[in-house]
Amino acid sequence: MNKKRVLSGVQPTGELHIGNWLGAIRNWVELQKTHETFVCVVDLHAITVPHDPALLAKETLSTAALYIACGMDPKISSIFIQSQISAHSELCWILNCLTPLNWMERMIQFKEKSIKQGDNVSIGLLDYPVLMAADILLYDADLVPVGEDQKQHLELARDIAQQRINSRFGSEEQPILKVPSPLIIKEGAKVMSLIDGNKKMSKSEPNEGSRIALLDPPEVIAKKIKRAKTDSFIGLEFGNKERPETENLLSIYAILSGLGKEKAAKDCESMGWGTFKPLLTEVTIDALRPIQEKYVELIKDPTELNKILNDGRRSASEVAELTLEKVRRALGFFNAV
Ligand code: TRP
Repeated sequence: MNKKRVLSGVQPTGELHIGNWLGAIRNWVELQKTHETFVCVVDLHAITVPHDPALLAKETLSTAALYIACGMDPKISSIFIQSQISAHSELCWILNCLTPLNWMERMIQFKEKSIKQGDNVSIGLLDYPVLMAADILLYDADLVPVGEDQKQHLELARDIAQQRINSRFGSEEQPILKVPSPLIIKEGAKVMSLIDGNKKMSKSEPNEGSRIALLDPPEVIAKKIKRAKTDSFIGLEFGNKERPETENLLSIYAILSGLGKEKAAKDCESMGWGTFKPLLTEVTIDALRPIQEKYVELIKDPTELNKILNDGRRSASEVAELTLEKVRRALGFFNAV
C-alpha cells in the first residue's frame, strides 16, 4: 500500500471550461484510481488579483462541485478548499523567507499578469508561485499534474524544496520535504481558444465566445461552436501548422466523441465545416450533459457537499499539519511541550 501521491488544484475564478476539464480534471479522475489524490480549490490564489467578495464563496463551492461532477470521487480522493487549511498560508510565509526575490522576478506568468494589472500589482501576485509551492510540498506530493504553463512554477517548488529547505536544514538521508515531479499529460493537455487557435482557452479572456463553460446550456454551446473561428480549407486534419483552429476543434471532437485522434481524423478528412460543426456541437452537448446533471444535484444539496468538503478538509489537514510540524522543527521554532 505505497501509492504515489498526487496533488493539484484550480482557482475558483470564473467558470470552469472544457479546457480545465480535458486538460486537468479529467486526468485527476484517472489518476485517483491508482494514486492517493488530493485536489483543492485554490481560493487564496484567487485573491492575488482584485476579486469580488460577493462571488468568492459561491465560485469556490461551484468549483468543488464541478470536480465531483466531472468524476472526482470523494470516497477515494481528498477534495478540499485551500483557505480552510491554515498550514498553506503558514508554510508559504516560511518559504517566503527562504526564497530569493530574484527567483520570483523571473516568473513568466508574473510578468504577464502584472502587465495586465497596471499600477496595482500586489505582493501576493509576485508570491503566487511560493503559495503554490506550499500547496504541493505540504502533501509530500510525488506528482503534480499541470499544464505546460505551470512548469516553471513546479520547477520553483522543486528548487525551494531541494536547495532552500532540504539542503540547508535536512540531510541527504533525511530530507524534510519531498521534491515533486511535474506530470504533463499530452493528449488534450491544451485546449485552445475558439476564436484564436494559437491561444490557450482561458477563464480570464473577456470574450466568452472563446470558451465553452462546463455549465453552458446546449443553445449556448451551439452558438459558440457556430461562431468558432475556422479556415477556408476543405476537410479536417491534424498536424497542419497553418490550421491551428482545425487542430483544436478536431482534437476536442476526438476526445469528446471518444473516437480517438486517428479515427476522428479519418471520419472528418473530407468533411466541410457545415457538417463538422453540428457534429461537434452534438458530442459536446452529450459529453457535458452528465456533468451538468450531477452538478445540479450537488448544488441542490449543500449538506452533502459540505460533508464532502469537511471530510476532505480533515484528511488533508492531517497530512499538512505533519509536514508543517516537520518544517517548524527543522527550522528551530519554539515548541511548547
Ligand atoms: N497555478 C495553478 C494553475 O493556474 C493552480 C494551482 C495552485 C496549483 N496551486 C497548485 C496547481 C498546486 C497544482 C498544484 O493552474
